[in-house]
Amino acid sequence: MQLGPGSVPPRDGPPPAVRVRDLARHYVVHRKAPGVLGSLRALVRREHDLVRAVDGVTFDLAEGEIVGFLGPNGAGKTTTLKLLSGLLHPTAGEARVLGHDPWRRDHVLLRQLSLVMGQKNQLWWDIPARETFLLNKEIYEIPDRQYRESVDELVDLLDLGRVLDVQVRRLSLGERMKCELAAALLHRPRILFLDEPTIGLDVVAQKAIRQFIDAYRRRHRATVILTSHYMDDVKELCERIVVIDHGRVIHDGALAEVVAAFAGYRVVEVRFDRAVARADLEAHGVVAAHDGATATLHLPREEVSARAARLLSSLPVADLTIEEPPIDDVIRQVFATGRGRAPEPVDSAVAPT
Ligand SMILES: Nc1ncnc2c1ncn2[C@@H]1O[C@H](COP(=O)(O)OP(=O)(O)OP(=O)(O)O)[C@@H](O)[C@H]1O
Ligand SMILES: [Mg+2]
Repeated sequence: MQLGPGSVPPRDGPPPAVRVRDLARHYVVHRKAPGVLGSLRALVRREHDLVRAVDGVTFDLAEGEIVGFLGPNGAGKTTTLKLLSGLLHPTAGEARVLGHDPWRRDHVLLRQLSLVMGQKNQLWWDIPARETFLLNKEIYEIPDRQYRESVDELVDLLDLGRVLDVQVRRLSLGERMKCELAAALLHRPRILFLDEPTIGLDVVAQKAIRQFIDAYRRRHRATVILTSHYMDDVKELCERIVVIDHGRVIHDGALAEVVAAFAGYRVVEVRFDRAVARADLEAHGVVAAHDGATATLHLPREEVSARAARLLSSLPVADLTIEEPPIDDVIRQVFATGRGRAPEPVDSAVAPT
């Protein structure tokens, strides 16, 4: 479903768990040409660019819903999650999370939400995760019994038994991420903002984290916004996606619609025993890249098996893999609207927002 700015699909029933209207966060950044001359010139006349990190975002999330928040690098996903967690103040617009204004940093709300960032550590490195858990127990004032139940539940769901008592810096990336999630969920938040929780993990660890997110959400009816550049995360967890680009929502609707739209081809990486001619490859499909004995082809999805078989029988193939198109490419293809806007120069008198 394509939506214009400020519009949301009409919904009946209880009030949304998350309600966002025309939310914006702009930054004014100094522009300086490189080198000494650039520095001198900046002394005389300061020039600024306006970066519209989030530029009028509107959507609703029902209680218990999970939505995949997608978009290319720099689209404004992390900024939106920080705004909704109350870490940043907006330039304009409004948001309600469980009926609260997140920027008031109301304890009632803070105890019900968690922001987990795959790129940032919240655990203390030099002590075992269990000790950070105890710290969080105090911060969130979790009663003893609930704390014990929470730890037991999380240890069970995340298979954390041995890991909790090892110094965090000695853990593998996957084990650390599991502990990060557990630490962020001890107080059983009803709202979860997950910013690339599986980044850098191997496929086994990614799967474990995904299964955990799903189990937690179902068990506690949590409302979740998940950002990820891994299509598998989104495919397995989210029926609905919100696509953001240049700080604006350019798509809000069922993932199935998007898959149907982009899934026209699959990416086939081939390595040959010797160099092959481009013309021989073009007979099989669209040649996206070609360098002597390696090539990337785009083959129509419904014919990919037959075409790959033909490729194997007619050319000296040493290795062949078939993959989904990268999610960034897909998003760029399907939602080509709104792209290519350069930062706008603003008057140097504008105060930073
Ligand atoms: N403090 C800041 N000052 C200036 N610009 C900023 C600041 N924080 C973010 N930006 C810019 O805002 C835009 C959105 O950044 P954001 O981190 O929200 O993107 P993202 O969608 O999370 O990207 P990624 O997928 O790479 O994590 C980017 O162009 C970024 O450079
Ligand atoms: Mg980000």
